[in-house]
Amino acid sequence: HDHLITATQLSRDDIETVLDRAAEIADDPPERDAVLGLLFFEPSTRTKMSFDAAMKRLGGTTVDMGSVDSSSVKKGETLADTVRVVEGYADALVLRHPSEGAAEMASRFVDVPLVNAGDGAGQHPSQTLLDLYTIRENAGLDDLTVGIMGDLKYGRTVHSLASALTNFDARQHFISPESLQLPRSVRFDLHQEGAQVREHTDLEAILPELDVLYVTRIQRERFPDDNEYRAVAGQYRITPETLEAAKEDLVLMHPLPRVDEIAPEVDDLPQATYFEQAHNGVPVRMALLDMLLENADGGTGGASP
Ligand code: CP
Repeated sequence: HDHLITATQLSRDDIETVLDRAAEIADDPPERDAVLGLLFFEPSTRTKMSFDAAMKRLGGTTVDMGSVDSSSVKKGETLADTVRVVEGYADALVLRHPSEGAAEMASRFVDVPLVNAGDGAGQHPSQTLLDLYTIRENAGLDDLTVGIMGDLKYGRTVHSLASALTNFDARQHFISPESLQLPRSVRFDLHQEGAQVREHTDLEAILPELDVLYVTRIQRERFPDDNEYRAVAGQYRITPETLEAAKEDLVLMHPLPRVDEIAPEVDDLPQATYFEQAHNGVPVRMALLDMLLENADGGTGGASP
């Protein structure tokens, strides 16, 4: 594929090829004298900065649209026009946008590789690659019991990770308030792939079985009634006391940013893996960019995502 739009397009072989390349890339980085276009229509710290760092560590550079307010989007320029213009300035594009489906739509207007860096409540597939890298480093990807907790309805990192995990021998437990369960479309895909899935409203009963717990932010802004938010939010907060019931080698992950769903006192415990996870964004995105650019050049080495 020329573009990376959704995790459903990634086979096990694609994933393992990126992760293998990421594991060795820091020691022997390939040279990619390329320009990466950064198009972020929504705020970002990790995704934008790690793609920026990844391109520069490969020997290339980046051009950045900046914020919506400082770009010609403010004057009413469409997404289709924006990407058609910026593809003339860059060899690959990274796009984050508040609308689900925006990356897929934009990809139809460009010939350079385009990576979906988050489309509304849709998908965030490059996050999934660094999540899987982190899981592989800390627990391996075979015979795995994974809990995914928080806002499963609107969480794009969750949708992509759940889909990619169907390539591996992973039992998936989804923990959320009823109002924030997985959307029907994601559930359908998991069913089609024969995924081993269970849903829970409480963490307590399932926590002792988990090898990985992936926590996401309960998005306060989604609740019509703040009391409803406060009632559920407390149930999904991880503290050192919560982890007493977990395996000692639980891999505790979070795509970040967190608000208060993981207490800061947890950060020093051996299970806390979320900062390592964020740091893995650089080697994984270096590997991804290297492969996408190699493909776009007509290179033949390695599999393509
Ligand atoms: N995990 C993630 O996508 O973080 P940012 O929103 O800061 O990019």
